[in-house]
Amino acid sequence: MAKPGRIAVLERIQDLREQHAIDLAIMNAENLAGGFSVTPQLCEQLFSHGIDVMTSGNHIFDKKEAIDYIRKQPRLLRPANYPPNTPGSGCWVGQVNGTHVAVMNVMGRVFMPPSDDPFRVIDTVIDSLSDNVTVRIVDVHAEATSEKVAMGWHLDGRVSAVCGTHTHVQTADERILPGGTAYLTDLGMTGSYAGVIGMDKADVIARFTSVTARRAEHSNGQVRICAALLDIDDATGRAMSIERLSLSHE
Ligand SMILES: [Fe+2]
Repeated sequence: MAKPGRIAVLERIQDLREQHAIDLAIMNAENLAGGFSVTPQLCEQLFSHGIDVMTSGNHIFDKKEAIDYIRKQPRLLRPANYPPNTPGSGCWVGQVNGTHVAVMNVMGRVFMPPSDDPFRVIDTVIDSLSDNVTVRIVDVHAEATSEKVAMGWHLDGRVSAVCGTHTHVQTADERILPGGTAYLTDLGMTGSYAGVIGMDKADVIARFTSVTARRAEHSNGQVRICAALLDIDDATGRAMSIERLSLSHE
């Protein structure tokens, strides 16, 4: 989320990779640039500092430069359930230390902008994967906990992990579902916790109490890194463990 989150990732990602022996680092980037969308420069900076794949969500095309960039950068995803002619892809497939990996991104429909049915669309995306793609990770970008929990059950046993994003508030419900899918309703935000989900608190309160308030700026201070560590058996694709991270970065 915005500059505070970006700086925290840039400063800590290499240490975290070493400390936890991370093979693949995925981040949701939809709030990267000032809280809305991405710029090519900021994405490339993060890719060169240790981020491997970026997912996104409803804000991904808030900046026009994201449209051209996403056509050329397969490591930046947009929701798979956007209209079929939308630039970019909702799925990245690649190799990590010889293991075939897919990262997928879908967006919920409850209290969210219009999009196609994420349940049906993710089924199509999964069906398109070859059997040798054992490790399969889904970012479900959605507001409603029920929609994300439903997606976890819908995909249990078919993917390695379903992790939620969009609310910016980390949930404490991490678990391995019976079919072997790691699940967490929301990963939480990496950014400033001095405001309201990353935005300046006075600006947001003004927007809730006035019809003429200006657009909110991002907040600063009380920076935390929120994430989850997934340990996945690369032969079977089953999740072995999921551990939440919520680290102060002052
Ligand atoms: Fe979002």
